[in-house]
Amino acid sequence: MTLVTAIPEHLQVERTIPASTPANYEPPFPAYSAQFAKDVSSLVMAVIGAQFPSKTGKEEAAISKVNSFLTFSGEDGEEALDPAFSEWAAVTDPKGYYNITALAYWKSEELYQKWTTKSGFSSWWESLDTQEQENGWFLEVFFPTMDRFETVFSSGEIPEGAAEMRDGVVGPIKEHVYWGSMRDRLAIAQTDTLDGEEFLKAPAEQAPNGNLSRRIRVPGKQNLAIIRSGQDWADTAPEERKLYVKTMHPVLEAGMNFLRDHGDEVGCYSCRFMDIVDPITRSADKDRTFGLAYFDELASLEKWSREHPTHLAIFGGFLKYAAQLNNVITLRLFHEVLVVKPEQQLFEYVGCHPETGMLVAK
Ligand code: HEM
Repeated sequence: MTLVTAIPEHLQVERTIPASTPANYEPPFPAYSAQFAKDVSSLVMAVIGAQFPSKTGKEEAAISKVNSFLTFSGEDGEEALDPAFSEWAAVTDPKGYYNITALAYWKSEELYQKWTTKSGFSSWWESLDTQEQENGWFLEVFFPTMDRFETVFSSGEIPEGAAEMRDGVVGPIKEHVYWGSMRDRLAIAQTDTLDGEEFLKAPAEQAPNGNLSRRIRVPGKQNLAIIRSGQDWADTAPEERKLYVKTMHPVLEAGMNFLRDHGDEVGCYSCRFMDIVDPITRSADKDRTFGLAYFDELASLEKWSREHPTHLAIFGGFLKYAAQLNNVITLRLFHEVLVVKPEQQLFEYVGCHPETGMLVAK
């Protein structure tokens, strides 16, 4: 098997920090990375969320509102301004609130900024008044340059997330299934240790009704690490599906609950284990989930995945799962990781409860 390196040629530089790839390494199974055109220098991932005290059906208006902007058909020259890809996901959080979010991706910050203005999103967002809104709103946007972004896919065929904008696929890649491989796929990590800021977690201020009565912008943090790690068992045959639901899903859920409830022990500010949902029916009718987590730095994310019993249970569970299926696996796994500078992050919360997203971070 000819293996290729996950870092695209135009982003390769002389390493001042060696990769951790073992000598003469051959991964036990193949994996792939998304390839983007050379002229794509950055991308945008936006999480646009609405928060309700419970799931009641009132979400419909919020979804339609956000969709009215996402489907804006304006253009800038030849380029469409609406997101290159978007989908909806939902999670009920530990306070019982139902959070429904659009995940939307653009090929550049410039296109995103033009979309915010021309679609009317920006003026609508700025005009939101916590006194008048029945639900909370949150906006979490990341603007990584391509050297601060990496992906790994178990399948080279079906894209997910930002890879919906891919130009092609690279692989099978060399950098995977050994600890440290995520860092080795990040171009910036050739020369940068990507240290973060001290982990500071404090409950945000409380309003009498438990919701924050005003709009809060949380400042960005140096080298915040974002992971979206997805699972798709839609195409599994009955035997594999049963095994996934019975053995993998529970350990995955336990890992995500740990990061959500005790993330402060491992440098994780926020973790949402989300179902991809149909925006019309709001039912999780697609067999796809993902964990979306924000860590104070890449090293904390690495440490949790390498050492913590909850990810080790996921990892160990997967090896058993693969063995039981004689390594013929239809389950698809992917992740995308972004390590962003403070100015490459935007966190704004309007009338959300104090444990939402980065509100917990001082
Ligand atoms: C690495 C399994 C979910 C975080 C790995 C690896 C496996 C694995 C086999 C090593 C593979 C490689 O590098 O190619 C799984 C399975 C999951 C799952 C089967 C779900 C069914 C998650 C989730 C997160 C996560 C939800 C975080 C939100 C990581 C990280 C690494 C990793 C950060 C890379 C470690 C490094 O390269 O240093 N996982 N995982 N995983 N996993 Fe998971």
